[in-house]
Amino acid sequence: MLLTPVLSRYWDEPRSWTLDTYRRHAGYSALRTALRMSPAEIIELVTDSGLRGRGGAGFSTGTKWSFVPHDDGKPHYLVVNADESEPGTCKDIPLMLATPHALIEGAIIAAYAIGASHAFIYLRGEVIPVLRRLHAAAAEAYAAGYLGHNILGSGYNLELIVHAGAGAYICGEETALLDSLEGRRGQPRLRPPFPAVAGLYACPTVVNNVETIASVPPIIEHGVDWFRTMGSKKSPGFTLYSLTGHVTHPGQYEAPLGVTLRELLDCAGGIRAGHHLKFWTPGGSSTPILTDAHLDVPLDYEGVAAAGSMLGTKALQIFDDTTCVVRAVLRWTEFYAHESCGKCTPCREGTYWLVRVFERLEAGRGTAADLAKVLDIADSMLGKSFCALGDGAASPIISSLQYFRDEYIAHFERGGCPFDPYQSTVMATQFVAPPVEVYAR
Ligand SMILES: Cc1cc2nc3c(=O)[nH]c(=O)nc-3n(C[C@H](O)[C@H](O)[C@H](O)COP(=O)(O)O)c2cc1C
Ligand code: SF4
Repeated sequence: MLLTPVLSRYWDEPRSWTLDTYRRHAGYSALRTALRMSPAEIIELVTDSGLRGRGGAGFSTGTKWSFVPHDDGKPHYLVVNADESEPGTCKDIPLMLATPHALIEGAIIAAYAIGASHAFIYLRGEVIPVLRRLHAAAAEAYAAGYLGHNILGSGYNLELIVHAGAGAYICGEETALLDSLEGRRGQPRLRPPFPAVAGLYACPTVVNNVETIASVPPIIEHGVDWFRTMGSKKSPGFTLYSLTGHVTHPGQYEAPLGVTLRELLDCAGGIRAGHHLKFWTPGGSSTPILTDAHLDVPLDYEGVAAAGSMLGTKALQIFDDTTCVVRAVLRWTEFYAHESCGKCTPCREGTYWLVRVFERLEAGRGTAADLAKVLDIADSMLGKSFCALGDGAASPIISSLQYFRDEYIAHFERGGCPFDPYQSTVMATQFVAPPVEVYAR
């Protein structure tokens, strides 16, 4: 079988989120093992496993932990990034709802490895059910002696703080998150210094994604060789792929890195009946879109990069032949304009003006010069913005024009969206008529 459920293996059990259920599945046994190891041994093991951050950039987790200085006399902090706000990205929230103890156990091990006595989970503020579940799980872990003073008699102490943000996409960017956690407006910080040297309260801090941290206990429990039986040499292990959109059975599919979209679609019942794949994102809306020509691209960090995109958060948003690519890109661009923190000019001004031009492109009132203009604006943002939000906003624009320029041109040649029966007078030649459900949007 293609799927490798590790994190998600008992998500469908009744009361999967309780400590009892977690213990029934050997929960917290990795913590006992870890506490018998030295912090340096844990960091070495996680480095050797090849685990890479699941928050988007895919940086080596063990290497990141090793950057935290030793014996510097300062407090160290672990911060779990649970902000998950990118359009299409929807793996951390189900993970925390279904098995919050997997995250807490991973956080204790990670905090012990980097010498932290305080760990924070920074949660996206809107998801109240997850907040309640994390609070309840943390209370259970304290009561059972997994958190607090002298954990399991090891002499190690850890306080865990679950913090709810106010709901801003930019607060998922790790340095903006730290500003927000300190009580300031969330805006990215200049790097260097990196958080491992000067992070929360100017002290050494590791920021890791929820899925990254939850992947640590199974690695401690089963070892490096087991982890490396899955995935590829440079991208080993299992991971959560989130399939959303025009797919028969949307959901989380846990599989080895390097699986293809074709294989995942087979598991998910394929594209919805009567339609075919038009375009998709490999890792959320910030990653350049791909098309049906990329169905066999290995979904690991190297494979997706070679195809001209990024694995990102493995949020596979699937769009079939009824979707207007210009409308989809306009919606994403509106999101980025709304979420731009305003700190730097390329992104603040660029996203604003992109929305203005895209509105007329989508309405069929654009011109050929507008296509050059949006590319010019996107180019002035890509690699020139203060943080990666600007790059993310430029990605769908550049990639959609690369693959679907004709569809953009069709909008202004026809004086309306070819997918919108109320705008277009000519529905015929190049585009398949949309089905009834498209009219109901
Ligand atoms: C605009 C923006 C939003 C981000 N949102 C998230 C997020 O919600 N969760 C997350 O883990 N990483 C997010 N990241 C990436 C983080 O900055 C950081 O790289 C990540 O938390 C590191 O964890 P990892 O090494 O475990 O992947 C975001 C980055 C940017 C630029
Ligand atoms: S790129 Fe956008 S979100 Fe990032 S600092 Fe600049 S204005 Fe803020």
